[in-house]
Amino acid sequence: MNESNKTQISNTQISLEKNAQIGLITIDYPPVNALSQMVRQGIVDGVEQFENDDDIKVIIIRCKSKTFVAGADIKEFGKPPTAPFLPDVVNRIEASNKPIIASMFGTSLGGGFEVALACHYRVALENSKVGLPEVNLGLIPGAGGTQRLPRIVGAKKALEMVTSGKHYSATALNEIQLPQDSDSHRFLFDALFTSDKDLDQATIDFVQGLIDSNSLQLNRVGENTINQEDIDWDAEIKKVSKKARGKLAPTVAAKVLFETRDLSIADGMNYERAEFLKLRESEQSAALRFAFGAEKKAAKTNFSAEPLAVNKVGIIGGGNMGSGIATAFLSSGFSVQLIEQNQQALDAGVSKIKANFESNVKRGRMTSAAAQNLLANLSSATDYQTLSDCELVIEAVFEDIEVKKSLFTQLDKICRDDCVLATNTSYLDINEIASVISNPSQMIGMHFFSPANIMKLLEVVRAEKSSEQALATAMAVGKRLKKVSVLVGVCFGFAGNRMYTRYGREIQQMLLEGASIEQIDRAMTAWGMAMGPLAVQDLSGIDIGHNARSAQPFPDYDPGYFRAAAVMVENQRLGRKTGQGFYRYDENGKPQSDPQAAALIQEKAQELKVEQKTFTDEDIVERALLALTSEGLKLFAEGIVQRLSDIDVIWLHGYGFPRHKGGPMYQARQMGATKLTEALKQLQAKNGELIWPDVDVSLLQEN
Ligand code: 3HC
Repeated sequence: MNESNKTQISNTQISLEKNAQIGLITIDYPPVNALSQMVRQGIVDGVEQFENDDDIKVIIIRCKSKTFVAGADIKEFGKPPTAPFLPDVVNRIEASNKPIIASMFGTSLGGGFEVALACHYRVALENSKVGLPEVNLGLIPGAGGTQRLPRIVGAKKALEMVTSGKHYSATALNEIQLPQDSDSHRFLFDALFTSDKDLDQATIDFVQGLIDSNSLQLNRVGENTINQEDIDWDAEIKKVSKKARGKLAPTVAAKVLFETRDLSIADGMNYERAEFLKLRESEQSAALRFAFGAEKKAAKTNFSAEPLAVNKVGIIGGGNMGSGIATAFLSSGFSVQLIEQNQQALDAGVSKIKANFESNVKRGRMTSAAAQNLLANLSSATDYQTLSDCELVIEAVFEDIEVKKSLFTQLDKICRDDCVLATNTSYLDINEIASVISNPSQMIGMHFFSPANIMKLLEVVRAEKSSEQALATAMAVGKRLKKVSVLVGVCFGFAGNRMYTRYGREIQQMLLEGASIEQIDRAMTAWGMAMGPLAVQDLSGIDIGHNARSAQPFPDYDPGYFRAAAVMVENQRLGRKTGQGFYRYDENGKPQSDPQAAALIQEKAQELKVEQKTFTDEDIVERALLALTSEGLKLFAEGIVQRLSDIDVIWLHGYGFPRHKGGPMYQARQMGATKLTEALKQLQAKNGELIWPDVDVSLLQEN
């Protein structure tokens, strides 16, 4: 573009240029071109300036860096809103007397998608994604998303998109066939360009075509009515509400779509905005916004070392964990070398990996061809020498320190000098494992959660001698795997399982004191936990935690007695795998209350002369959460985690903590130091030494 065509720069986040009859508004506000006050003002200024310019026939809104606008500026939430407000900006775009084209790529989300919906044309790269993810932040779209989207894609698809908050592929959305009587007559995108195209040039060519053919139109979506389709709104709202499991925003979004379906765009937007503003002030939205920020922080480390480039990963062990880890790596395009002790175990591991991919294909997560392509990167062997060219090797073998030490002694002789050696142990002392290799700085923990191809959490464990490069490599690999990676230190159970043990310990004690299995699980799930703690123990196997605690890998750390669990193990009630644990499982695998389990616990309580109490659901939740909080503060004080908010991230992604409640440490912060101290003291007075009463609550002020 010729310098002379540059027109007055609107502000530092937006520039305006003229290209013959086309006015270009370019947003350049990295990293995601969020709609800050300056960006909003710049768009309005640009539209007005080009409207008043007789040379200009059409306006393009486009972005620099890696994406079209990804939404309202989250950093501005919590501050007093400043004009121009986004609904006014989008309405100003739609009202323009010259057609405006959105030129989209990357992820056009939330307010960014709302800007595009108000434009008179939308063009995009085929691999772009769009979505209204506001519900993930406890919000609903606040600038016409619930109004313009159904006017294009129909009420049914809009309901799905607005309440799920998912990102949708531009190509897939453009295949939506609207019913014949729709007065929209248009697809969401007016043109999609293959991803190898220069989008700026393709958009200019598209616009020039419209000018040359004299076919420019002011397509104002807001002037359309909504295609009602055949929707049982009552049933749909109930479905959304059930799926939301305590989150308010999805249900509010569905109700807004229902209540405004016959309204004009202006009335509909007023209704939407009022609901948006109410949600923006809600506790849930504050917690969900906190969770978003906490995840971004958790990924940050201050390592000066560059990560090692990883292409080939060795995975030792083809059991559930190993095959899940292998699936995760293959799915992200890594080459995987799977190792097992013998051919039979190896075949079983490979079959599990294939089954994981088949399940993804069946669920529509990938095509069969894509699955075959990824699986082509899998090699399997019983010979450890095949690991010699791996940049990263992860062991997922039996949880036994001697087995692991002997394995790493062997790997030390085979692997490249710079190969990062990782153990997936859940409880063992990584420093002790590292002591057997010649360069312990290459050794780290990579603690995946089961099923490893599904669960988002990855604890990257820093042992005493782990090098920054080894840790940076694991964090970078975690990002490529699309995991939420959190850096933690070595201790019993690292951050997550150590807290889970404290929580479990309290649950066990409440069982002995007279709370029933069913009441505990009901109280915790009603509060928002994804599963009851006792149902979780049955699922993962009661013997797993029992054996880990009994092995006492960290003699200085006392995980406490789990007497009810011990009784279950003594009676071969190991959980789902033996058909009975805290519950009994019927032939369909459905849990049933089992008086025998209750009787075993009662017998133990009598034998130990445990005083019996009556529990309310609130008592149970309070005690369980305070146990978590006190252990979390202790972990932070010991430097096991970098930030308190890292603990929240761990609990949100590894243990089913309700996201709209922010996490255990977020909850403690909301309670405040004074109340927390009081509650811990009271609980300790009532229940003995179980909860750490003297943790430093002033640490709640820290990040
Ligand atoms: N506002 C401000 N900053 C944002 C942002 C936003 N909407 N979205 C992302 N960022 C920041 C992140 O905090 C991060 O900052 P950092 O580098 O300082 O940590 C940086 O952008 C990069 O983000 P990611 O690490 O997440 O980058 P990815 O490439 O993995 O993902 C993304 C990019 C898909 C855009 C992802 O960041 C995302 O999902 N963002 C949230 C989008 C969203 O929720 N938009 C709706 C906002 S609400 C709204 O628009 C209301 C309206 O209806 C009125």
